Amino acid sequence: MSVLTTTATVTVNPAFLQEIKEVNQELWQSLADLRKRCSRPIATGMCRHLVDWLSELRDQLALHFALEEAYGYFDEPLHVAPQLAEKADHLRSEHQELYSEFSDLVDRAERMFFAGQTAALAVWVGPRFLDFDHRLRSHEDRENELIYDAFDVDIGVGD
Ligand SMILES: [Fe+2]
Repeated sequence: MSVLTTTATVTVNPAFLQEIKEVNQELWQSLADLRKRCSRPIATGMCRHLVDWLSELRDQLALHFALEEAYGYFDEPLHVAPQLAEKADHLRSEHQELYSEFSDLVDRAERMFFAGQTAALAVWVGPRFLDFDHRLRSHEDRENELIYDAFDVDIGVGD
């Protein structure tokens, strides 16, 4: 690669990032289950379980993002391809946004449930979850692209 910079400093360890995604099957399964349940009308009797599953997913998501940030991303003081650094910086910062957004969703669902507003909750939660799921999947898709870009750069840079 001829275009290198020292100004942007975030990069990824593509092998670690890929492995974190591959071993986190519980998270993907929870997401798939909730996606399925939220794609059809939700019975009010399901709300208690739904609130539990959402809360569980929040914990799984927190762990997933924490692992990615601890082992998948790192601040690189040397040369990083600028396009890759920009993408990495952006994607890493999305974790906090996604987590806050989902945490708000879960808090609100819990409040509605404990206030006895299960009918309102059953109507509200499906579209909100699917909307979040869409954004999370977009993040994951772009992070997977970043992994492949980073592998390419590793091969391309040489020495
Ligand atoms: Fe991520």
